[in-house]
Amino acid sequence: MCGIIGFSGCEPAAPILLDGLARMEYRGYDSAGIAVRSEHKGLQIKKAKGRLQNLSDLTHNGADLEGTLGIGHTRWATHGEPNDINAHPHVSENGQIALVHNGIIENYLEIKESLLQKGVRFTSDTDSEVVAQLLEFYYRESGNMLDSVTRVLHRIEGSYAFGIICSDYPNALIAARKDSPLILGYGKNGNFIASDVTAILKYTRDVAYMDDGEVAVITPHTIDVFNSELEPVEKTRSQVDWDVSAAEKGGYEHFMFKEIMEQPEAIRKTISPRIRNGRVVLDDISMTADYVRQISRICIIACGSSYHVGMVSKYNWERLLRRPVEVCLASEFRYSDPLVDDHSLVIVISQSGETLDTMAAMREAKRRGARTLSIVNVVGSSIARESDDVLYTWAGPEIAVATTKAYSTQLVLMDLVGLYLADQLGSICEEEYREILEQMQLLPEKMQEVLKQTSDVQYYASRYFNHSSIFFIGRNLDYAMGMEGSLKLKEISYIHSEAYASGELKHGTISLIEPGTLVVALGTYAPLFDKAMSNVIEVKARGAEVLALTTEAFREKMEKTADATIAVPETHTILQPSLGVVPLQMFSYYMALQRGCDIDKPRNLAKSVTVE
Ligand code: M6R
Repeated sequence: MCGIIGFSGCEPAAPILLDGLARMEYRGYDSAGIAVRSEHKGLQIKKAKGRLQNLSDLTHNGADLEGTLGIGHTRWATHGEPNDINAHPHVSENGQIALVHNGIIENYLEIKESLLQKGVRFTSDTDSEVVAQLLEFYYRESGNMLDSVTRVLHRIEGSYAFGIICSDYPNALIAARKDSPLILGYGKNGNFIASDVTAILKYTRDVAYMDDGEVAVITPHTIDVFNSELEPVEKTRSQVDWDVSAAEKGGYEHFMFKEIMEQPEAIRKTISPRIRNGRVVLDDISMTADYVRQISRICIIACGSSYHVGMVSKYNWERLLRRPVEVCLASEFRYSDPLVDDHSLVIVISQSGETLDTMAAMREAKRRGARTLSIVNVVGSSIARESDDVLYTWAGPEIAVATTKAYSTQLVLMDLVGLYLADQLGSICEEEYREILEQMQLLPEKMQEVLKQTSDVQYYASRYFNHSSIFFIGRNLDYAMGMEGSLKLKEISYIHSEAYASGELKHGTISLIEPGTLVVALGTYAPLFDKAMSNVIEVKARGAEVLALTTEAFREKMEKTADATIAVPETHTILQPSLGVVPLQMFSYYMALQRGCDIDKPRNLAKSVTVE
């Protein structure tokens, strides 16, 4: 949530900051602001409620602001409504210090109270302004900015990534981080800080990742990093290999549609390097066969769509490993006094690698001795760096708030890991192992076939977009896939929707079915197709309108009963959700399009959830 950027360099800062914010707008889009320091004008602050375009218009794309040192922010409101005053940067009372913040200061009320008693006047309702005011207070005492920042960091509690500039320091930008992502970028004409690498990719690929408790001083030619005791820290630099164009729309109207279309290639990139000579090869992980055999508990933790990948994987892994697999919402796991220990393997799934609940759950699991393996898309993200082992999904940058290609690559990677573990345990026969791997390699091709059905799905969306409540029903893998279909739909089209295990219908939910209710019936899970059909008949008998999703093999049967049918090619049973989910993503997309929704930036949401 919230994106921050900072630049100290040899060229005008404002256009660079605005460009970076535009590439990070998916982190928050309630309001935006920049602060730029110039020799003649001191700190110039511009803020605007709403989309970043308002700020760009206000500043004539940054041309109005003079100076080569600056910070910028795009906000997802937590404390205080989205308006110009609560927008960042926040400025200290004497106008000397400006700051942008991503995170939450948990003890801000107590600090605010003590500053109020000392006569400090506040202008906003935010927790972040407290930090700017406290900084000025300490700076008045010490006259040294770096010391003052360190004192502030010792006083505040919560999570933060800060970018700070001060009118007394012509070239220096100070950054600090705890539990919120922050990247240092080493450029030719200046250096950067940013919440996301996508913000600075146009200027540099040479980055370092700040760790918790670190403070950095960034000037046009140097970046010095210190620990919380102000001792110098040597950072390891790495090169980002993401393609800049991958983070651009490339002629598509929406990132979400582009990312749906990129799925076959993303899947290919994720699986190809890990299948060699007919075996799954996971070079990146250090788990031995002995270790795998002594695992007594497997637990998957994640949030949102990543959790839905966990749901699919629970079914698949239990089948492949013949071991119980639990899947837990990270936000619940972290406070549940979880029963994990040094014989537990905890799988952590996260696209961003920065989701706060997921990270906290992972830390809790590690604290209890569990071994952690993360499935992450963003290289160098916090979860990737803190887990014992990491396997990257090679989906490339995902910009739309609603995940599509990250979900799909997580799914296939989890299937690969499941096969790998099953092989180590000897719980899968050679024939099935080979069959799954063969079918997995055919997925990109088959997915291309599914993507050709775009106009059918678009037609169904034009037929159903006025429904106000939609039910997704399915069994086993179809149920898990329905959860994702339902989340996708409500997230971007704002239509109320729920996913139910079909068998549960008659235990309550069926009372909601009345003439005209739209039910998306999922019947792609071959072993239970007949049961899926029975459920379609049941809801039809109560007047439901049924849009069914099945496989080519069952299309004819399904068409006899459902009002509309979409069919995907068959694959191995455990891989079927990889194909089935695609029409569901497209359906949500077109439903949202019909309803005129802001597809890439749905209301109240942000891509990376770095607050609790
Ligand atoms: O980055 P993560 O995978 O940890 O994010 C978890 C969820 O916030 C995320 O999947 C969310 O549910 C998506 N926006 C759904 O499309």
